[in-house]
Amino acid sequence: MSDALNFLVKARPEAMGHYFAFLKDAGKHLDPKTRNLISVITKVHAQTERGLRQYLSRALREGATPAEVVDALLMAFPALGLARIVWAVDVILAMNLPGFDPAALGAAEGRWHDVLAQAEVPATGARRVERDGKGVFVANGDAGVVVYDSRCPHQGTDIPELGIEGDRLTCPKHGWAFDIGSGACVKNGDAPLRRYEARIEDGRVLAFW
Ligand code: FES
Repeated sequence: MSDALNFLVKARPEAMGHYFAFLKDAGKHLDPKTRNLISVITKVHAQTERGLRQYLSRALREGATPAEVVDALLMAFPALGLARIVWAVDVILAMNLPGFDPAALGAAEGRWHDVLAQAEVPATGARRVERDGKGVFVANGDAGVVVYDSRCPHQGTDIPELGIEGDRLTCPKHGWAFDIGSGACVKNGDAPLRRYEARIEDGRVLAFW
């Protein structure tokens, strides 16, 4: 909540209580994902960056995909106009969230990337490498070799090599922890690591993005 809202809550607790109750009641028939997507649009309309970041994270946590977020922005074009949509996209890109690049959104062709030799993938834990401008973690997962985007699904922090501890990967920013074998979030959060399709060819690990 902004400092201004905090002030109003303290200065006029009863009136603001009615206001928050109204907002809660107004969205009671909407599922959490839709409610948060609508809040994303209202934050873009008001151009409040903190609010946009907050409700975008919530919408993603409730299952919204990057493509749905872009659809919601474009559908709101009559109210937002191009300038606000471009502003929102700038904020979203600065968050560096996995899944918001054109290739992931299906607008650009992906391709296979040579990541490293299969022999270099550790038996336990993971190895972090930079390939073709992208950071990835490579591991021997539950179903063969797995390749994950190094960006945290929470707020896009580029997780460093130091985040690896045994079979866990922990983001240093807010402590979301992931199981390296499956990519599932096992502590503090609820969204998995972004996983890329991977295959072995001539002893090399290839990944598609
Ligand atoms: S950015 Fe928040 S836990 Fe990673």
